[in-house]
Amino acid sequence: LQRYSQENLAENTKPFKEQEAWEEHQMGKAALKYGSENKNQISDNYQFVFEDQIDFIDPSVIDGDKFDDQEMVSEKKTSKSASEILQDERKTLPIYPYRDELLRAVENHQVLVIIGETGSGKTTQVPQYLHEAGYTKRGKVGCTQPRRVAAMSVAVRVSQEMGVKLGREVGYSIRFEDCTSEKTVVEYMTDGMLLRNIISEPNLTSYSVIMVDEAHERTMSTDILLGLLKDLIKYRSDIKVLISSATLDAEKLSNYFDFAPIFKIPGGRYPVEVHYTKVPESEYIDAAIVTVLQIHVTQAPGNILVFLTGQEEIETTKEILNHRIRGLGGKIPELIICPIYANLPTELQTKIFEPTPKRARKVVLATNIAETSLTIDGKKYVVDPGFVKVKSYNPSTGMESLLISPISKASANQRAGRSGRTGPGKCFSLGIDDLVNFDFIDPPAAESLIKALELLFALGALNKFGELTKVGRRMAEFPLDPMLSKMIVASDKYRCSDEIITIAAMLSVGNSIFYRPKEKQVHADNARMNFHSGNVGDHIALLMVYNSWRECDYSKQWCYDNYVQVRSMKRARDIRDQLERLLKRVEIEIASNVNDLNAIKKAITSGFFPHSARLKKDGSYLTIKHPQTARIHPSSGLAQVLPHPRWVVYNELVLTTKGYMRQVTELKPEWLVEIAPHYYQLKDVEDPTSKKIPQGQGFFTSLSQELLQFVIEHVEDKNLF
Ligand code: CDP
Ligand code: MG
Repeated sequence: LQRYSQENLAENTKPFKEQEAWEEHQMGKAALKYGSENKNQISDNYQFVFEDQIDFIDPSVIDGDKFDDQEMVSEKKTSKSASEILQDERKTLPIYPYRDELLRAVENHQVLVIIGETGSGKTTQVPQYLHEAGYTKRGKVGCTQPRRVAAMSVAVRVSQEMGVKLGREVGYSIRFEDCTSEKTVVEYMTDGMLLRNIISEPNLTSYSVIMVDEAHERTMSTDILLGLLKDLIKYRSDIKVLISSATLDAEKLSNYFDFAPIFKIPGGRYPVEVHYTKVPESEYIDAAIVTVLQIHVTQAPGNILVFLTGQEEIETTKEILNHRIRGLGGKIPELIICPIYANLPTELQTKIFEPTPKRARKVVLATNIAETSLTIDGKKYVVDPGFVKVKSYNPSTGMESLLISPISKASANQRAGRSGRTGPGKCFSLGIDDLVNFDFIDPPAAESLIKALELLFALGALNKFGELTKVGRRMAEFPLDPMLSKMIVASDKYRCSDEIITIAAMLSVGNSIFYRPKEKQVHADNARMNFHSGNVGDHIALLMVYNSWRECDYSKQWCYDNYVQVRSMKRARDIRDQLERLLKRVEIEIASNVNDLNAIKKAITSGFFPHSARLKKDGSYLTIKHPQTARIHPSSGLAQVLPHPRWVVYNELVLTTKGYMRQVTELKPEWLVEIAPHYYQLKDVEDPTSKKIPQGQGFFTSLSQELLQFVIEHVEDKNLF
C-alpha cells in the first residue's frame, strides 16, 4: 500500500497512474500483503479485506515472486523469525490448550459440532491439527466457508503458518478459481464449490475430513451441504464431518446430526462489552454520530470502528461528523475520520493504515463487507447501528431488492433461514430428485421452491415429472444462475456461442466494468456511449467493449482511454476462458456470429424470456409475467433513448427507491412466442394499440399439469393453493 501510495502521490498529475494504482490495490496485492503478513506495519492492526478485491489475488505475488531481488533478500532474512513468531502466535489462541482433547473427540466420533468465539482459532487451527495428527495421509482436509474472501484469506494465513507456498500443501478453490495442486492436503473452499465437487465425486473420496465452517450463517449452499453430508456418512464410515458454528445454533445442528456431540472451546481472545441503546434508534446515523462523539470525549484512547450500510451513508456520516467537530471549535482532541468502502480511491484508503498521531483518535467508517474479515487488536470501540443493506428476494414478485434492514437476533435468524433459497436448481444435479422432501435443516419456503421449480421448468431444465432434462444437465455444468446457463446452452442453436459466453462473462463481473471518476464524468459517459451506437442495448454493448479490448490485444492503455476498469476486464477474460472450456465439455461448438445481432438477441431471450417488460404510456415498463412497474436503470445505454423501445428483456430487476431494470436489450415481441410458446401466448404480446395491457398469468400457469400435481402432492403448505 505504501509503495503504491507513494507512486501515486508523486505522479498524481498523471490520471492513468491514479487509476492504475487504484486498480492494483483493488487487485488485492497490497491489501493482502500488508493485511496478513506485515501486520505490524499497520499501526492499528486493522485488517481490511474486500470481497471484490480479494477475487483478484495473484498467489505468486503473495509469495513474493514478483518483487525485485532486493526485496527478496530482505524477505528471506526475516522469514525464519517471522515463521517462529507465527508458531508462537498459534500457541496463544484459545483453542490451543484443547488441541489434544479435540483430536481425541474427532477420533471417537464421526460427526462433531465445534463452537467457540470468533478468533478462537477454529478456522485456521483445526485443519492444521488434523494434518499434524495424520488425517491428511488418508485424504484431504476440506474446510468450507460461506464467503469467497474468507476461503482465500484464511488459506493465505494458514499457508504462512505452515510455511508453505500458497496453492501447494495449502490451497483454496472458489468459483472460477482453483488455487490447489496435487500436493494440496488442506483445502479451503466455498461451500458452493464443495457442492460442485460432489457432482463429480459423489462420495468425496479424496477427502478424509470435511469441516463445514461458519455453519450458523446458514447459506443455501451450507444447508444443502449439511443434508448431503448427513446422507454421505452412512456410506463412508471413514470420513469425519466437523461442523463449526456460533453458539446459538449448535444444538439444532447437533440434533440434526442425530445428537452429535458438541465440543466447546471456552473463552474468547478479547473481552467485549456490549452496550445497547435502550430503544431502537430509527435515526441510526445520527445515533451513531452521537455515540462516536461520546466515545471520543469520554473514553480512553483507542480507535473507533463504525459499521454503516454503504458508500453514500459513509460519506454523509463523514460530513456530519466533520461539521459537528468544527462546531466544537478545537475544544476536543483531533478525530481523524477514515471512510472505507470498495470504490474509495487509493490515497484515501491508505489513510487507515497511517499511524494515529498522539492524542488523536481515528474513527473508521466501514461497510459491513468488512465484518468478518476484520481483526482489531487491542482496545477498540465498535459502533454498530445494526442495519445492513440486504439483497432480498421476494418470491411472489420475483424481484430482488436492495433494502436497508435492521438486524436483530430474531430477524437475523429468520433471514438466515429464509433468504437465499432461490436457486435450488443445482440440487437436481446432485442426485436429489425429491427436492421437496430433501432433509433440509430448515426447509425453504414452499413459495420459493415452487418459484424455482417453475423457472427451471420454463427454461426446459426440468421435464413435467420434475426430472432433469438433457438441457438441464448441460446447464448444470455451468457455475452460473439458471437463466445465464440457459442462454449459453441456447446459443448453440443460434450459432453464436462465442459472443454469448463473452456476454455471460461480462454480466458475471457485475456492474463494475466502467470507471467514472468524479471530475471526468462527462468524458467517461461519452466513452461509455460509444459502445452503444445504434442503440444496440446493454448486452451487445458489453460484447462490443470486450471485443474492442480483445482487438487491442487486451491492452491496459485501451482501458484507460475508454474509462473501462482493467481488473474487471481481466476477470471477464478469466471467466470467459473457463466458460469456453465448459462449452467443450457439454459439446457445444464455439461459433461466432457477430454480425447477426438478432441471433445474439434471440439467444439472450432464450435464457431471459421470463424477464421481459413492455413499455407503458407513461414511459415506465410493466414486467410481463409477474406484473411490476419498473424503469430502465439510469446506467443503461437505453435510458436516454427516446422513445423507449416497446419491448425489452433485462438481466436483473432491483428495487431501490423504485423498481429498476439493469442491463436492458430491446427485443421483438414475436420472439417470445417463438422461443417460449409454453410461457407466452400471442395475447401476451398483442399490439399495444389494443388498450389492454397484458397481465401476467398468475402464479402457477406455466407449470405443466403433471408438475403441478407433483408439487401439490409434496408441498406441505397447502394454503398456497
Ligand atoms: O475461526 P475462528 O474465528 O475461531 O478463528 P480463526 O479465524 O482461526 O482466527 C484465529 C486467529 O488467527 C485470529 O485471532 C487472527 O489473529 C489470526 N488470523 C489472521 O491473522 N489472518 C486471517 N486471515 C485469519 C486469522
Ligand atoms: Mg472462523
